[in-house]
Amino acid sequence: MVDKHRIVLAKEDFSPDECELIKQLAGYDENAADPKAELDRCLYDYLVFQNNYVFASKKLRTDLEILELDYRVQYDHRILKSIDSRIKSVKSICGKLEKKGVPLTLENAAFELSDIAGIRVICYYMRDIYEIKNRLLAQDNVSLLKMSDYIQEPKPSGYRSLHLIVSTSVHLAYKNVEVPVEIQLRTVAMDSWAGLEHVLKYKNPNGVSDEISEQLSDCADVISETDAKMQDIYKSLFGKKL
Ligand code: GTP
Ligand code: MG
Repeated sequence: MVDKHRIVLAKEDFSPDECELIKQLAGYDENAADPKAELDRCLYDYLVFQNNYVFASKKLRTDLEILELDYRVQYDHRILKSIDSRIKSVKSICGKLEKKGVPLTLENAAFELSDIAGIRVICYYMRDIYEIKNRLLAQDNVSLLKMSDYIQEPKPSGYRSLHLIVSTSVHLAYKNVEVPVEIQLRTVAMDSWAGLEHVLKYKNPNGVSDEISEQLSDCADVISETDAKMQDIYKSLFGKKL
C-alpha cells in the first residue's frame, strides 16, 4: 500500500517556494517587527492546518485497513485491493483557490476545498465499493457530507468511481476537530481506465479531439461491462459466502 502522506513535523521541511505560498496563505505581516518570528508563525499555522488533514486521513486509512483484515477473516474475501492516500500540496491548494477566484487564506482553503486529504480505495468488484461505503458510513466517527456516484451516472468522459466526502473527528492534544476527507472508490478496471485517460489528456495540453474522447468513453463502457461480468462470475462461484 502506497502512503504518500507527508507529515511535516519540522518547519524546516518546507521548500523556499512552499514558504512563499505559505506566507500568503497564513497572512504574513510585511510590517512585523521580527520578520523571522513572523515567518515562523506562518509556518506553524500552516503545519497545524495541514496536520489536521494528515491525521484525519491516517484515521480513515486505519479504519479501512481494519475492515479489509476483518473481512478476510469473516468472509475469506479481499474486499479491497489497495489504499492510496495523499495530502494536497501547498502549490495545488493555492492553484485551486486561484481557479475558484478566492483570496489565498487558510480559512478559504478549509472552507472551499474538500479534497485536501484524499484517499483512493481500489476494489476487485463493484459490489465491494458499496459494501465499503456502507460499512464506513455505519461507523460513528464518520459522517457523510457529500456523495457523487459516477458509477450509476458516469461523467461524460466515461469516468466511473464513487466519490464520498466524509467528515471525521480528530482528537488533538488540546481539542477535537472535524476534518473533511475525499474518498474515491473504484474497481481495478475503472482505475486503470482513469489512469490511462488522465495521462493521455495530460500529455495533450490542448485537449484531445471529440473522436478520441468518444473512443475513450467507449473503452470505459467496455470496461464497465467487463466489471459486471466478472462480478457475476464471482457471485456464481462464491456468492453464498458473502
Ligand atoms: P476537482 O477540482 O478535480 O477536485 O473536481 P471536483 O472537486 O469538481 O470533483 P470531482 O468529483 O468532479 O472530481 C474529483 C477527482 O475525480 C479528480 O481530481 C480526478 O481524480 C477524478 N476525476 C473526475 N473526473 C475525471 C475524469 O474525467 N477522468 C479522470 N481520469 N479522473 C477524473
Ligand atoms: Mg476534488
